[in-house]
Amino acid sequence: MQKLLITIDGPAGAGKTTVSKALAHRLEYTYIDTGALYRAVAYEAKLNGLEAHDDEALEKLCSGLEIAFVRGDQGLRLICNQVDITNRIRTPEITMLASAISARPVVRRFLFGLQRKMGKDKGVVFEGRDMGTVVFPEADVKFYLSASTRMRAIRRYNELVPKSEITLEEVEKDLKQRDKNDSTRDLAPLKPAEDAVRIDSTDMSIQEVVDQMIACIEEKSGEK
Ligand code: DC
Repeated sequence: MQKLLITIDGPAGAGKTTVSKALAHRLEYTYIDTGALYRAVAYEAKLNGLEAHDDEALEKLCSGLEIAFVRGDQGLRLICNQVDITNRIRTPEITMLASAISARPVVRRFLFGLQRKMGKDKGVVFEGRDMGTVVFPEADVKFYLSASTRMRAIRRYNELVPKSEITLEEVEKDLKQRDKNDSTRDLAPLKPAEDAVRIDSTDMSIQEVVDQMIACIEEKSGEK
């Protein structure tokens, strides 16, 4: 079958990462987590003591950043300027900072170019917020994955618990704040592309979501 470019957008906790990885595995495609790219910029901004709204400093920072996904013994690793930062970008602080810097045009412009390069050979599943609307409007198949706020908070909480003391209510509050940041920003706000297939994963298993996506992809590639 001809290699396609597939996008999966949606809010935090909708199951995008698990589903995107499983889908890429089933199709033998590359998986790109674009949220990790925003987190990498946030991590470097923090390391350099930058303010989230200092566009000049952020632009300078981005121009010196080399970010790549490299397949290693422990799966895909995020390498930034030769340093493996995979395990450093999932803290609550970097999560909120990534949301803040993702509203800055200089950061989006930098990552737009990087993401386009990563998608040039197709055979890729891109997970993010604006993949189908802004970065790859020409994508072959677009999905928009959502779930109820409560279910998304529960999923995030279950992922976090062994590592932190945050409560479910706090996770839900952070999630709502991020939803608000991500969907009300002027630039590339989180919203479904007009031609996206919408899936609500609240009452679905990962397997059911992936099966539904595969059925859509087969149907769409039959139409081509
Ligand atoms: O998917 P994530 O939680 O790792 O994403 C971190 C932040 O990056 C999120 O708050 C929104 C932003 N982001 C974005 O604006 N555009 C993308 N394509 C991916 C993530």
